[in-house]
Amino acid sequence: MADGPYSAFQDSIYLNALLTGETPAYPVDATALEEAAVERLDPGPRGYVAGGAGTGATMRANREAFDRRRIVPRMLRDVGTRDLSCSVLGTHLPAPVLLGPVGVQSIVHPEGERATARAAAGLGLPMVLSTASSFTLEEVAAASGTGPRWFQLYWPRDPDVTVSLLARARAAGYDTLVVTLDTWLLGWRPRDLDQAYLPFLRQIGIANYLSDPAFLAGLSKPIAEDPFAAIAHWATMFADPGKTWDDLAFVRENWTGPIVLKGILHPDDARRARDAGMDGVVVSNHGGRQLDGAIGALDALPGVVEAVGADLAVLFDSGVRTGSDLLKALALGARAVLVGRPYVYGLALGGEDGVRHVLRCLLAEFDLSMALSGHTRVDGLDPSVLSAG
Ligand code: FNR
Repeated sequence: MADGPYSAFQDSIYLNALLTGETPAYPVDATALEEAAVERLDPGPRGYVAGGAGTGATMRANREAFDRRRIVPRMLRDVGTRDLSCSVLGTHLPAPVLLGPVGVQSIVHPEGERATARAAAGLGLPMVLSTASSFTLEEVAAASGTGPRWFQLYWPRDPDVTVSLLARARAAGYDTLVVTLDTWLLGWRPRDLDQAYLPFLRQIGIANYLSDPAFLAGLSKPIAEDPFAAIAHWATMFADPGKTWDDLAFVRENWTGPIVLKGILHPDDARRARDAGMDGVVVSNHGGRQLDGAIGALDALPGVVEAVGADLAVLFDSGVRTGSDLLKALALGARAVLVGRPYVYGLALGGEDGVRHVLRCLLAEFDLSMALSGHTRVDGLDPSVLSAG
């Protein structure tokens, strides 16, 4: 199965039912998947994963931006064989899909990021590991084996901790750095506030800090003796909203591989990223979790591509739920797409197996969407594939 085209997953579902009478262990439909997962989760994690900022307007805008666009299929173009592979910043991708950085995954499944890493590696897809992971970056690297891995930085206020995290990530085999720019402050999230639920305050999602020599050097007592002091120290140094474009030189100096800025929505910011010597951007509004009322991410994509698409790798996330969403983002100029909540729902329902299920569904539907719209290669997609009508 793994060696066939991704769409063979569809055949395997029907065949399996024929031979064994079994239907898939997890929902295939993205909405049903979300519903099943949130039903399984406790109220705290449920709100944390599924919720967004403010009224949820930006989460809705993300979906509306996809729904407004339609694919115009082309016929009789020999789509019998598809090659979905591509290369982004030196990383080979069997399909233009990465697992986006999602922190604190142990709130939905005890194996957390380690299960996700195994599923991603099995399919050859890069996982972007969050700084806010439940397991240390070294533990997740070990789980990912030979799988491609990128590291997402929540850029700490303390430069020593920043340098230490970057050195550890490099040593553990993460080759591309994703610096998230939209979370210097936590967005206003009513569902979390109503429950006063923030995993970090329960020591979940701070494993990389608690294992970091530079972080530990800032504590006056061992963590076991004063866990609250450790959490307070983390809270004061997690991020620095005073950062400006000039500060990026520091990250550039301390990372030898490609650097991608995540959270870019304005073409001028994309140009500034290029001028600061960055290698790529992720057009993203953090899945509508940060600024309520922010533009739907897909609506921001064409302007960023026009500004820097010739110079930088433009990646995309926020609101991607299906294979045809992938096709639409690629048609608008994204080089690859980061998947967010859907794989977390798979993790909640079935650990590694659940993540694999979600990714296989996405890849199969993407492969079929390519064929059914008359395309065999991702570099053949452009805006003419879509109609705004
Ligand atoms: C996130 N996201 C995120 N981004 C990041 O840069 N670092 C992080 O640690 C996290 N953590 C995180 C936790 C949870 C529970 C969610 C749902 C999201 C944002 C993530 O990378 C991505 O931008 C969004 O998830 C994309 O939107 P969709 O696809 O989930 O709608």
